Amino acid sequence: MSLTTFSFPTPTRFGAGALQELPAQLKRLGVRRPLVVTDAGVAGTEAFRALAGVLGEGGRERDWHVYAGVHPNPVENDVREAAELFLKAGCDGVIAVGGGSPLDAGKAARLLVKRPGYDFGRFYTDGADWSGLAPLVAIPTTAGTGSEVGRSSVITLDATKRKAVIFHPELLAKLVILDPVLTVGLPAKLTAATGADALTHCIESYTCPQFHPMCDGIALEGIRLIVEALPRAVRDGSDLDARGRMLVAAAMGAVAFQKDLGVVHSMAHPLSTICGMHHGLANALCLVAGMNFCARRKPGLYRRVGLACGLDVVGCTDGEADCRTVGFVMQFLAGLGLNTKLRDHGVKPEQLDALVAQAVEDPCHRTNAVPVTAEDFRALYQEVL
Ligand SMILES: NC(=O)c1ccc[n+]([C@@H]2O[C@H](COP(=O)([O-])OP(=O)(O)OC[C@H]3O[C@@H](n4cnc5c(N)ncnc54)[C@H](O)[C@@H]3O)[C@@H](O)[C@H]2O)c1
Ligand SMILES: [Zn+2]
Repeated sequence: MSLTTFSFPTPTRFGAGALQELPAQLKRLGVRRPLVVTDAGVAGTEAFRALAGVLGEGGRERDWHVYAGVHPNPVENDVREAAELFLKAGCDGVIAVGGGSPLDAGKAARLLVKRPGYDFGRFYTDGADWSGLAPLVAIPTTAGTGSEVGRSSVITLDATKRKAVIFHPELLAKLVILDPVLTVGLPAKLTAATGADALTHCIESYTCPQFHPMCDGIALEGIRLIVEALPRAVRDGSDLDARGRMLVAAAMGAVAFQKDLGVVHSMAHPLSTICGMHHGLANALCLVAGMNFCARRKPGLYRRVGLACGLDVVGCTDGEADCRTVGFVMQFLAGLGLNTKLRDHGVKPEQLDALVAQAVEDPCHRTNAVPVTAEDFRALYQEVL
């Protein structure tokens, strides 16, 4: 039996209006001059204005700084620039606010604050001591990645042009604020795509074979929440109850995937780096094909996912249970407008070789429910193209 770590440590404040506690929480953490890390899109939202209002603007000398240059699917340079501003402005903590992109960049910037000029290519080999990173408060404005409760940061590296998952327990936030008011302005399409990312996290983590009943329980309850709340959040963005449930479900998806992920994420990562596709959308377009692929090789894999979706699959054969579950997920995504093909989003057949090559190198599929070969990836991409 292999050894496993069970760890669910992030203190989280949840609820409409939780943002108002930020100044007191910063004080508690000893942060007097935070760097706010975000992206240009978020910087123009009502959510960001609310944050600025809470931190205090105008009048007295402003004692917080903003880096708003993070790209969707962040690159190394975003992390570098954020760290440089942190040092130049004499900051002592990071508030990462936005979707997974600013959260990941803000998390990782603290590594370069500690070691300016550090080469991420060495991350897994040099055993550097990362204790004592600047404290991080993570405030998501999308409900999808769950990056706020994770120990990893997904950054596209200059050297490989691939998404690298930089994983370290020290990357964890000291505090997470889940305030559904901040996601009210997220447009329906992004609400759907980010929610599909959370659903994929729950399904893939539940079905990867490692023994981790705690993560399994969290993943199944996450599925139940998403199936119920995501359509409501997409239909009416101001439904604070649905928005709140989605924020918690997204965090649960990320807690669950400390267990691991699978083939769908290995397909999605190259679609972002090579084709610039949004991560959640990429997962949504690959999820059903990935589930069918796994179910054919491991019948019965999705029975409990089906139960979590509210399907009565107890008395079904393994094959029927999988078929009904995958059919449900297909209809569910279609109901959210996520039933398009890759070519509808500009992906070209000529890009297939590069996609397959990167997917094979991506680590997520190594923990998939069943093994995946390069030929499998090719067939899967062709199916969703
Ligand atoms: N660290 C992890 O554990 C983890 C897990 C999954 C995904 N990821 C990474 O997260 C990234 C994707 O994150 P994402 O899906 O949240 O998208 P994102 O952060 O790239 O944001 C997508 C868009 O939504 C906009 N936006 C965000 N919040 C908004 C709001 N409240 N109102 C209006 N617009 C808003 C942003 O400006 C941006 O244009 C990818 O790089 C992916 O690889 C990380
Ligand atoms: Zn994901």
